[in-house]
Amino acid sequence: MIIALNNKSNLNRKEFKEYYKELLKIKTKSKLILCPTFLNIGLAYSDKVLLGSQNVSRDKDGAFTGEISAEQLKNSGVKYSIVGHSERREYQRESFEDINKKIKRLLDNNIVPILCIGETLEERKEDQVKEVLNAELLSAIKGLDAKEKSKIIVAYEPIWSIGTGKIPTLEEIEEVFNFIKKKFPKNKVLYGGSANEKNIDELKTLKIIDGYLLGGLSLKPKELQEFLNKLEK
Ligand code: 13P
Repeated sequence: MIIALNNKSNLNRKEFKEYYKELLKIKTKSKLILCPTFLNIGLAYSDKVLLGSQNVSRDKDGAFTGEISAEQLKNSGVKYSIVGHSERREYQRESFEDINKKIKRLLDNNIVPILCIGETLEERKEDQVKEVLNAELLSAIKGLDAKEKSKIIVAYEPIWSIGTGKIPTLEEIEEVFNFIKKKFPKNKVLYGGSANEKNIDELKTLKIIDGYLLGGLSLKPKELQEFLNKLEK
């Protein structure tokens, strides 16, 4: 299983150091990918937890003030990068084109993109889920060949589920995963959105899920261990 931990904009330097020590104590058979804030990336030191970033510049090194390039991430030991998280699509107005460019920059630098896709509650109510996901998936892989496409990890994160404690029904998740896997048969697909130690017994019955992208739970090593114990039982 792939377990990606999205710290989002949390943990200052001191807090991260303490947190990281706790994280290294975690016992698991899964592949842990930690995505800290950019400032905390340099504080991670162990091979036990793989390193990811939460974002990347759409451009190469150069005159792009405030941006961090894929080359720089690679040089700092980053092996994975979240791209197109719904929080960035919404608050930073990231476009389909931005996301496509970021994926290309990452692949050029041998960093695995974790592409986030997901619908709003309104879109779900209006039965537009597949349409929305289809547009997000197709725009993301524009110009990529089959081999490049297969390297992407897809993370299905229903926007209405992120940080709300609500998750879709198992049938709803299964339907979406079948849809994604039909289009992306070679890709790993993760579920994200309020996954936690309380609902993992239910979620893990869906064998189609290749792993999880965790937000809130990523910040709580004790509960994360509980989640992993249940998942791997
Ligand atoms: P929560 O697990 O806090 O719902 O966040 C999910 C997420 O957005 C991970 O990228």
